[in-house]
Parts: sequence; C-alpha cells; structure tokens
Amino acid sequence: MSFVITTPLYYVNDKPHLGSIYTTLICDSIARYKRLTGEEVIFITGVDEHGLKIQRTASNKNVDPQTHCDEISNIFIQNWKDWDISHNKFVRTSSKNHEFIVNEFYKRVRNSDDIYMGLQKGWYCVGCEEFKDNPDNSPTHKCPIHQKILEWKNEENLFFRLSKYQSQIENLISDPTFIQPKERRNEIINFVSKGLKDFSISRTNVSWGIPVPDIKNHTFYVWFDALLGYVSAISQDMNNPSLEDSINNGWPADIHLIGKDILRFHAVYWPAMLLSAGMKLPKKVFGHGFLTREGQKMGKSLGNVLDPNLLLSKYGKEAVRWYLLKDISLGNDGDFQNKRFVDIINNDLANTIGNLLNRTSSMSRKWFDNKVPDIEGVSNDTKLALCTKKTVENYIIHFNNYELDLAANDVLNLAINTNLYLNEKQPWLLIKDKNKISSVGNIIYNVLESTRIIGLLLLPLLPDLSTKIDIQLGKSYEKEKSWSKQLNWGLLKNKSILPAPSPIIEKLEYE
Ligand code: MSP
Repeated sequence: MSFVITTPLYYVNDKPHLGSIYTTLICDSIARYKRLTGEEVIFITGVDEHGLKIQRTASNKNVDPQTHCDEISNIFIQNWKDWDISHNKFVRTSSKNHEFIVNEFYKRVRNSDDIYMGLQKGWYCVGCEEFKDNPDNSPTHKCPIHQKILEWKNEENLFFRLSKYQSQIENLISDPTFIQPKERRNEIINFVSKGLKDFSISRTNVSWGIPVPDIKNHTFYVWFDALLGYVSAISQDMNNPSLEDSINNGWPADIHLIGKDILRFHAVYWPAMLLSAGMKLPKKVFGHGFLTREGQKMGKSLGNVLDPNLLLSKYGKEAVRWYLLKDISLGNDGDFQNKRFVDIINNDLANTIGNLLNRTSSMSRKWFDNKVPDIEGVSNDTKLALCTKKTVENYIIHFNNYELDLAANDVLNLAINTNLYLNEKQPWLLIKDKNKISSVGNIIYNVLESTRIIGLLLLPLLPDLSTKIDIQLGKSYEKEKSWSKQLNWGLLKNKSILPAPSPIIEKLEYE
C-alpha cells in the first residue's frame, strides 16, 4: 500500500509565491521521510486551472484561458524543479484525463440522487471561489482574506445534497485523527453543528470550466472539479483513465496538507462528495497556518508576496527550507522576517552544525592521518551515544506526528549537545600528552559519529546539506540500505578518509 500525500492544487491566476512553496516544501519533506522509512509514496501536487478567477485573469491579459494556463502551469512545473520537489504526480485540471474522471464521478453522485437544480443567491468572493456570509447585506462587504468587494449572484445552478450527509460528517470529524491541528478541528465541528446546507456545483456564467454533461450552458463549479484532481492524479493509465483505476492504485489519500483557508472544502464538502460516489475518504486533513507579512496573509491577490525565486537565488533552497520548516510550527501562522531569517541560518546551519563538522574533521585529519580515528570497539553507552539514541527516537515520533519543527529542533539540539561534549572534553589539550592519543581518538570518533547521524536526520529536511555532510565524512551513507538502520550508533568506519573540509553553507549577510 502506498502512502499518498497531496498539496492543494494551486490556482494559476499568477506564478507561485512563497505561500505555495511553503505547503509544497512541507509535503516534500514528509514524502522524503516516508520514502526513507521504506514506504512507497505517491506525492501529488499540481494546478487548479478552471473557474471565474482564471477566466477573468486571462481576459484581463487578452489571452485565451488555455494559453494563460499553459504559461503559468509551466512556471509552476519549472519552479518545482528549481526547488527540487520530489513529487510523483503533477495534475493539471485542464487535462482531458481529469475531465473524464470528473464526468465519471458526477455520474456516480447523480445516481445517488444527490443532484438537483435550484436557485443560487448569495455574495461571492471570486478570489476564494466561494459564497460568503454577509450578515449586514452591504454591497461593499469585503472578503476578509482577499480584501475584495463581494459580488452578488443570483442564478440557476445544480446543487449537491450536502445536508443528507450531516450525521456521517459529524461522525467523521468526531475522530480526532481526521482533522489536525485540534484548534482547526473545533472550527469545523462548530461549522457543521450549525447544520450543513446543500451547495451549488455548477455555474452558468463561467465558460472556462468542464461542461456539465446534458445540461446546456452549465460548467462545473471549480471546487467540484478541482478536488477530483487528487483522484485523477492517481489514475495510471493516461490513455484510459477511470475512477476504478485510481481506486485500485492508491486512493484514498493518507493526508491532504492544505492551508487553513480551504479546510471546509477538504474536511466537509469533499468527504461528503466521496461518500455520495461510494468512495473511500482521505485519512487526514491537516490545515496549516499562513505565512504572513506584517500580520496579513501573504497572497497573490493582496500583492504582498515574497518572490520565491529571489530568495532562492540569493540564499539557496536549503536556507529557505530550514527557516520555513524549523521556525514555524505547522499549525501556526509564521511571519517572514529578514533579520530573523539571516540569524537562524547563520546560528543553526553555519555555526552550530557547519562549524562542528569542520573543526572536528580538521582535528581528525591533523592528528589521525587525514582519516577517522582507528578506535578499539565502539561504546553504545557513552553520554553522546545515549543522547543520539534519544534524539533519533524523538525525531521519529515528531516526524510521524507531522511536527516537522520539533523534528528539526531535535537535530539542532543534538548538534548543540555534541558541541558541548567537544568543549567539555577539550581534545586539543589532551593531544599534547602522547599517552592520551587513544582517548582523543574516542572523543573525535564520537563527535564525528554524532555528526554523521545529524547529517542523516537532515536528509528529509535539507537533502543537499545532508549530502554535503556525508561527503565531508567520507561518504558513509549507503542509499540502497535501510536509512533507519543507519541511524544506529557506531557505524562510521574507522580509518575512512576525510576530505579537506569546506563550509557546508555560506554565512548570510544582512541586507
Ligand atoms: N485552488 C485552490 C485549492 C484547490 S485544492 C483541490 C486554492 N488555491 S490557492 O492557489 O489559493 O492555494 C491555496 C493554498 O496555497 C493554501 O491552502 C496554502 O496551502 C497555500 N498558501 C497560499 N497562501 C499562503 C500563505 N500566505 N501562507 C501559507 N500557505 C499559503 O485555494
């Protein structure tokens, strides 16, 4: 059985910004971790190309929507390459395969008697592609997320009988493992307890969408279409896609990782749609916090985004990954601050981890003939060996709970403790006494061994930096062998050759 993880399918109204990179990096790190623990992973990402928002964006540019989508989707694909995202599937909702799956799914839902024609009236945010409550009924009411004035809609739409699934959805969300983190779960429980209302799944004024079969002038509502991207991604046979094929090849998803803005769609509407179609439900929906700038959500529509390409070329992807994964707790919002970013990278990666490696490898090279010391027997019960063992245990618990910030801090703390051990033991004083050479060998071996494990633990978080550490330690990591087993203490080979040290990351300068 595969472990299936998804990012949201991003709107192509503009190129990716740091918010979209954020979700994708988290998924990438989880996918890498799962693969290292021996699981088969299907990591799905992609783009959401239909709907009024995209139709308008294309029309403002005076290009046809498909040309616009091709252009922006290609930028997403290129960006994911530049950030070295390890996805297995990239979905485009304007593809024929996807359209086929949406039609097949719609037929199932219709056969369950869950579709009817009705009148849709309400205030709509084109940015969210969602009807909003407007309690004061004012025509200038703004969407709190996009700060844009809501539009009044009054049209005949097809409706989905969400209300029919009230008790099933209540049951589903009463399971504490389904929605994470728990504050988000409470919001959804509260929303569902007010009573679920049927929602419209077609539009009459949007030509840029999948046509509803047999109903003239109706296209599917963009969310009804996009959520199915997770399913169409899994279909293996591109020439002959089918729901059955996806069901047999990995559905349901183990985790949908999304921003908190789109939790309702994933934790309420989507499960109800799947129940109606007789399909299995995703096992978990994780709604992470927002990246903010000066307290406001960073977003394409608000125009306060940080250009990820600029950050990438200036600081490199390992620095940005570390900041986003280590400094922000997945459920919380995180403000991007330049000074804090520079300080964290310099302290954690350049000073604590980088210097530890460089100074120890230099000592080893100098005193032990450019090699790892040749020690007699490895001891598993030294202070450092025990500290490493505990770190590995905590790290695994944290990664399995999707607490990536805590897992990253576990690694950092191990590096801090290893530095303390080195400073306490002071091998540079002991080496002056010829009789102490074997103690010095043991100390240096322990520090190098701890550093090897630090490097391995960094592999899902900072793949390039981890590889650099491995190279500096004489390439001890064996890819074809179990990563988990290589986290055991004492595997660094005596007398392996250590190359001349070079910094694993350059120190960053303030702007
Ligand atoms: N197209 C829908 C999703 C359909 S999924 C079947 C959509 N797209 S979006 O382009 O607006 O992207 C939303 C997602 O991007 C958020 O849920 C979140 O994962 C990510 N982020 C967008 N802005 C973000 C921040 N400022 N901070 C963190 N993540 C953000 O909604």
